Amino acid sequence: MPRLVVVSNRVAIPDASGKSSAGGLAVALREAFQRQEGLWFGWSGKVSAHPSTEPKMTDKGHVRYALMDLTATDRQEYYSGFANRALWPVMHYRIGLSEFSRADYAGYLRVNRTFARALARLIQADDLIWVHDYHLIPLAAELRVLGLANRIGYFHHIPWPAPEVIGTLPGSQDLLRAITEYDLVGVQTERDADNLRRGIIQEFDATQRTADVIVLGGRQTRVKDFPIAIDVSSFEQAACRPARHRLIQQTVASLGSRSLIIGIDRLDYSKGIPERMESFERFLISNPDQRGRVTYLQIAPTSRSEVPEYASLSRTVSETLGRINGAHGEPGWVPIHYVTSAYPRGVLAGLYRIARVGLVTPMRDGMNLVAKEYVAAQDPEDPGVLVLSKFAGAAEQLGGALIVNPNDKFEVAEAISVALHMERSERIARWRRMMDVLRRYDISWWTDAFLTELASQRKASKTRSPAPV
Ligand code: G6P
Repeated sequence: MPRLVVVSNRVAIPDASGKSSAGGLAVALREAFQRQEGLWFGWSGKVSAHPSTEPKMTDKGHVRYALMDLTATDRQEYYSGFANRALWPVMHYRIGLSEFSRADYAGYLRVNRTFARALARLIQADDLIWVHDYHLIPLAAELRVLGLANRIGYFHHIPWPAPEVIGTLPGSQDLLRAITEYDLVGVQTERDADNLRRGIIQEFDATQRTADVIVLGGRQTRVKDFPIAIDVSSFEQAACRPARHRLIQQTVASLGSRSLIIGIDRLDYSKGIPERMESFERFLISNPDQRGRVTYLQIAPTSRSEVPEYASLSRTVSETLGRINGAHGEPGWVPIHYVTSAYPRGVLAGLYRIARVGLVTPMRDGMNLVAKEYVAAQDPEDPGVLVLSKFAGAAEQLGGALIVNPNDKFEVAEAISVALHMERSERIARWRRMMDVLRRYDISWWTDAFLTELASQRKASKTRSPAPV
């Protein structure tokens, strides 16, 4: 079996107890690394005065971690600047929020080149290389320039927008060309795959060999959907034995006989948090009998706060929250509880289980694993109801949810009301439909499907050397 080399911006190193972070990527890759030895390369998360040219190596279990520090300028230009101020908003259809700067773009390419040079020295001829996420789109092109002919796959965790949308971003043509240096490109949904293939075909003189395969300049790239999944059974178990945590105890105590509605998201404008709060307000206005009978708990760990659009979102959320709680709250009842700390997976699983409604209403999302976790955590005899945005990738798989347009506050408010009043038999039927899908396509399916497909690709020709991006 070839060695697996994973490359990602963030790297989840297990702590002293052997546990690694609970993030979706960490859980997914832990599964892949359980079956084969490997190397995980990426940013250490640290900033140092001098750029790394060599990674720092750490061995844990049968995984070798190779970590690069960034300089403050690299971090600013590559991570905060191009990746999170220019690419992220466009990928999430928020063209108006995208701030392009030539310096940031140059920094993004520079870090990708530095990473490629450091990584290339660690690569063996038969390694399978699996690159993750939008920070690293040009990495394969840089590795090819250095003569690597390995099979290289890329998984794009966030949405890939329609060609007209990605085309608004300066540099997008380079990125589309660079993506064809991968042998396999995985995206979350059929819609994303179609958008990306159309983008490449429209921009270049590329041909479509089969439904999934694009050929450009004699090189073929397979673009296919591989919806990311969760470790269903371990999440079910975590929900049955919830952590004895203060947040769970306090939530249960403060709820009394009230129903809990839960939202859990990184604080990001793609998640639609102020819009969701306003939908909940609309629900309170339309259902005065529900005042004092429901509590909406929103957990939203702060994210990327150095990026101005995130700081501004944080203010908007606080204002919206204050206004709604001020206008509708009563002594003894606060309609929306808002928490910005991050909690361990076991705590979240316990909270999902006691929530009657899971409110997952992003304006745009690659997949949204919270939707899947909420379903997996439910009591099979008395499950809660998932209200899910049609713009989350998860909506392609979770037809048992109440699917809503998050831009329509009346529609979301109505779905909350339907969810709270739904008969148990219907809740069970909907939940079973979703669980069947989650069990069939769980995390081992995801890693196997991607890696089997990558391993079956033909190796790239050594003689071809693309222009650097
Ligand atoms: C999304 C991205 C990941 C990223 C995560 C957290 O899920 O797909 O690549 O790691 O957000 O964002 P952060 O900027 O904190 O890494």
